[in-house]
Amino acid sequence: MEFSIKQSSPEKLHCGCVAVGVFDGGKLSGAAQALDQASGNYLGGIIAKGDMGGKAASTLLLHKVPGIAAERVLLVGLGKPKEVTDKVSMEILRAAFRALQGTPAKDAALYCGDENTGRDAAWVARQAVLVAAEIAYRPDSLKSKPEKPAALKSLALATMGKPSAALKAAVGQAAAIARGVKLTKDLGNLPGNICTPAYLAERALALAKEHKAIKTTVLEEKDMRKLGMGSLLSVTRGSEQPAKLITLEYRGADRKQKPVVLVGKGITFDSGGISLKPGAEMDEMKYDMSGAASVLGTLQAIAEMGLPLNVTGIIPACENLPSGRATKPGDIVTSMSGQTIEILNTDAEGRLILCDALTYAARFEPDTVVDIATLTGACVIALGHVTSGLLSNRDDLAKELLAAGEQIYDRAWQLPLYEEYQPQLDSNFADMQNIGGRPAGTITAACFLSRFTRDYRWAHLDIAGTAWKSGKEKGATGRPVPLLAQFLINRVAK
Ligand code: BES
Ligand code: MN
Ligand code: ZN
Repeated sequence: MEFSIKQSSPEKLHCGCVAVGVFDGGKLSGAAQALDQASGNYLGGIIAKGDMGGKAASTLLLHKVPGIAAERVLLVGLGKPKEVTDKVSMEILRAAFRALQGTPAKDAALYCGDENTGRDAAWVARQAVLVAAEIAYRPDSLKSKPEKPAALKSLALATMGKPSAALKAAVGQAAAIARGVKLTKDLGNLPGNICTPAYLAERALALAKEHKAIKTTVLEEKDMRKLGMGSLLSVTRGSEQPAKLITLEYRGADRKQKPVVLVGKGITFDSGGISLKPGAEMDEMKYDMSGAASVLGTLQAIAEMGLPLNVTGIIPACENLPSGRATKPGDIVTSMSGQTIEILNTDAEGRLILCDALTYAARFEPDTVVDIATLTGACVIALGHVTSGLLSNRDDLAKELLAAGEQIYDRAWQLPLYEEYQPQLDSNFADMQNIGGRPAGTITAACFLSRFTRDYRWAHLDIAGTAWKSGKEKGATGRPVPLLAQFLINRVAK
């Protein structure tokens, strides 16, 4: 979908549909008033009859409104501005785009701005772009007959007055973020037989081809062996697919500026290994590379924005499968850091690949490292599918990430990394074991990672619950690309 900004009075806009707001009680927004005047009180008449009362997220589609250039007018209920939370605003936007999607309109305009929506224009515009792209998304690339594509091809974020610099920036950024989200969803939705470690490496190389500012390198198992990545390599032992360690370096700033390093878990299928998972819903473990996909999506987004920052993506990618060669419970391996690990459960594999990638990350002299991983089922139990888990060894970094998530409505919640949890990882035979028992499973997983991140500012995002949806709307969500992109945008402003 194409996104643009248009300054125009709404009655003059030639397009398939113009969407304007109506507040609770039928009070017309600025743009709706303009349409009402141009149409000889047509809107006022409809509202007086009670067809549109302005209830939040209600919609009413009108055809051939007299005196209006657009083919259709969509009235969107905005509720009472004082009661409209971010959540309600998102529901209003979803309702508006669902209604738009129900029409054959190819292009549409949506009025943002305080007098039109009761909210900040830049916020509305950014979220509108993200919601429009979300609703137009179809996970049908592997259907022999693709579903009917969404009719809506271009969306204008419209204002009556001069669009602000903030609005322009928001739309440009949101369009790039939306495309990053789409890349992340596409990769997440691909099955494990297509989206292998080698496939992820190819896509990372393709990103470098598209963007001069990105340089991609791919390390093979023999390189990882030389680096001493015994923990990462222990996970891939049962697989026929070669593991890859993918690095993408985005250079948007002076080479002296230390990079933000994003490390994404890239398990392209997690069967659990010898600690085999139960069969029900095991297919969902194709999403276990969602952290990796979010690194690719975020890098694509910031490269499109041309953000003046240095950002490095690191993706340890492999499969976790059982075989005669596979790592067994009780096996002890030596990580790149030199610390030894007793693998008590081969299904706690994410931390085993991440720990070596996190040790490797130090080579890039990072300012900050953020890892993103579908790491624990415990996180789904704690926070459900609404909120990503966040743990960090620096509170100021945690606050920055939480704030970015609030800002773009891709929220996380911080869990404690208290020292008191660390003894759950004590092993009789090695420096640590890879599981910490049932209590606080998300925290002990992060405690494990914290033993490899002592030398830098680090945060961990557990996206086990937020990276995809189960049930009828099964599919990848593209989270937390918006959070990560907003975090990086905010760092430029600093
Ligand atoms: N990829 C899973 C985590 C996961 C579970 C993500 C459910 C999404 C939904 C991870 O590799 C895993 O298996 N974790 C184990 C760890 C346990 C053995 C300590 C888990 O959470 O059960
Ligand atoms: Mn697992
Ligand atoms: Zn996993």
